[in-house]
Amino acid sequence: MKVEFSGSVKFSGAVVAPVFTNNRHSTGADALDKATGGAISRAQKASRFSGKSGQVLQINAPSGLDAQLVLLCGAGERDAADALVWEAFGAYALKSVQLSGAKTLVFDMRDLDAPASARAAFGALLAAYRFDKYRTTLKDDKKPSITSIRIICSDASAAKRSFAPLNETAQGVELARDLVCEPANVLHPEEFAKRAQSLEDYGLEVQVLDEKDMKKLGMDALLSVGLGSNYGSRLAVMSWFGAKDRKAPPLVLVGKGVCFDTGGISLKPGAGMWDMKGDMGGAAAVTGTMRVLAGRKARANVIGIIGLVENMPDAAATRPGDIVTSADGQTIEVQNTDAEGRMVLVDALWYGLTRFKPSKIVDFATLTGAIIIALGHEHAGVFSNDDALANALDAAGKSSGETVWRLPLGAGYDKQIDSKYADMKNIGGRGAGSITAAQFLRRFVGETPWAHVDIAGTAWKDKSDDPREPAWATGFGVRLMDRFVAQNCED
Ligand code: BES
Ligand code: ZN
Ligand code: ZN
Repeated sequence: MKVEFSGSVKFSGAVVAPVFTNNRHSTGADALDKATGGAISRAQKASRFSGKSGQVLQINAPSGLDAQLVLLCGAGERDAADALVWEAFGAYALKSVQLSGAKTLVFDMRDLDAPASARAAFGALLAAYRFDKYRTTLKDDKKPSITSIRIICSDASAAKRSFAPLNETAQGVELARDLVCEPANVLHPEEFAKRAQSLEDYGLEVQVLDEKDMKKLGMDALLSVGLGSNYGSRLAVMSWFGAKDRKAPPLVLVGKGVCFDTGGISLKPGAGMWDMKGDMGGAAAVTGTMRVLAGRKARANVIGIIGLVENMPDAAATRPGDIVTSADGQTIEVQNTDAEGRMVLVDALWYGLTRFKPSKIVDFATLTGAIIIALGHEHAGVFSNDDALANALDAAGKSSGETVWRLPLGAGYDKQIDSKYADMKNIGGRGAGSITAAQFLRRFVGETPWAHVDIAGTAWKDKSDDPREPAWATGFGVRLMDRFVAQNCED
């Protein structure tokens, strides 16, 4: 998608202008109304449109204007319109006209400042996302027609400057969504590691550990998950040293990258199993975030570590009851091979902690179905041993729109994963499944400030009311961590 900002008023294709509460026109909406001899305000009177955020009103081919259509898009109270409102404004606009036949979407925001214009463009980019690469029979009228966005705004060069980092964020979100959407016959652990490696093009340092390397380090918890797979397990480490002091302790991000989760020998039911191609949503979020940080040259040291495996049933697969030793020496009784994400994470966390001595460590994982029962698809679950870190994630969630909700940890939950035969077992009782999973991770992180983000409900969803998100892979975590780094880690 081509995006440009301009100070000159020139129309073509689809033209959109903001309208505020009680049908108050922006300067752009007023100008369009005049040019069309009042057609815009007549259309407003004839409809229930009032300028609320989320409302759109389309007027096709109005006379007096060189445009295919005019779109009014609500932005709510003018004084209350913040970054997220402008994102939604841009996203609703793009969504409304994406298939209209118009090639260009022109935003008339001539009376609005640079941040608002940049956010509208960002929202439009997020909304434009599609995963059509495997569709060979899509009819022409079902294909997106918009290929460029032009934003008329008060200060085009300032808007361009504030859009530049957001453009990187949009591309990181797109990368995460693409990775989640890719089927597991294409995006298996070896292929994912290659795609991580290719991020060297953006200036990241990338190192990939194969099974031999991990075996040497004793990472049998992670390796136990991939024993049934025809693909080799991998650990990809993406490093970005953007702080003034390259030696300053980094933020480490860890992602669960189960490229497909059949459940292993504790096989999942067939219905809906196809969604488990997305069980690498944590690794996708980390990879997308690293892409953004390098793209916008974040002034922070951040390491992204993704544990890449495929969980398959096989004669060589881990059995329920097997006992494995993690890299830090603790033993785990695998009572359920479908509770595999935590097995991957603890060795990846160990690698991050011992190799990088981070200031903080945050993991992302589509870890438990139970988090969907608790929080639905609205918030990701956060668990932490550090109040300041949990609060910082909450704040980053609120300002990015990727919201999180903290859940408790405690000794009573921890006890539920004690095992008769080993240091711990990999499942707790029937209740509080997301908490006992977090409690399992807690046993491996010591005193380093740590947070675990369970994104099983937010990495993908069957339908979304948010125009920035497509119907499936959301890329959840990229905007959150991009914000988090900007608010907490940059010098
Ligand atoms: N990948 C799943 C969790 C999941 C479920 C993600 C639904 C997205 C949507 C995870 O590996 C899993 O299978 N967890 C089990 C844990 C149980 C065996 C303790 C679960 O949630 O049922
Ligand atoms: Zn599982
Ligand atoms: Zn899983």
